[in-house]
Amino acid sequence: MQVILRQLGDCNIRRAEPSDLISVMEINLKTLPEHYSDYFYESLLAELPEAFIVAEIGGKHVGYIMCKTEYGFSNFKKLGFVKKGHVVSIAVLDEFRKKGIGRALVEESVNGVKLRKCDEFYLEVRCSNNEAVRLYEKLGFVIRQQLNAYYRDGEDAYLMAIEL
Ligand code: ACO
Ligand code: ZN
Repeated sequence: MQVILRQLGDCNIRRAEPSDLISVMEINLKTLPEHYSDYFYESLLAELPEAFIVAEIGGKHVGYIMCKTEYGFSNFKKLGFVKKGHVVSIAVLDEFRKKGIGRALVEESVNGVKLRKCDEFYLEVRCSNNEAVRLYEKLGFVIRQQLNAYYRDGEDAYLMAIEL
């Protein structure tokens, strides 16, 4: 059964299902240089379906966000050990950007990781990716670290995090 989380005009924001994964992989291939195995997508959906979300317009997939949970050191509390949600990847097809879809995907994934009682939510983003950094900042994420040469091409990442 499809779980529709919200509607933005003609765009449905809903939980992903196994039959969505091929389209999600296609969006990932078109929009980002970081790609993953089929198995990895399947395992994220199996492990955290509450925060694996797709955006769909008239049956066409236009965006996704997928996340996982981890236990580890807090990005806020010194020596604190916490449960963290982690945004693995988010993207919206170019033609469908700047309509609020990215924001809705992040907000709904925040709700999803809260259902799993995460204390914090974090992600890495290329330092040059102004659009994404601005979106995360608007939603309350703050830059907590700069990760040197985090990407394969040598670019640094910002680690951005929010307390839930
Ligand atoms: N009319 C005009 N502008 C609007 C509207 C609207 N109705 N709704 C939102 N906007 C504006 C927002 O205010 C925002 O602008 P601002 O940052 O200048 O204030 C801008 O549109 C973007 O917000 P959204 O529309 O919510 O986000 P979008 O759907 O464009 O998706 C995303 C953002 C996901 C970063 C997209 O640019 C993308 O897919 N980029 C390529 C992939 C990528 O870089 N992903 C992130 C990698 S990091 C990681 O995965 C953890
Ligand atoms: Zn990451």
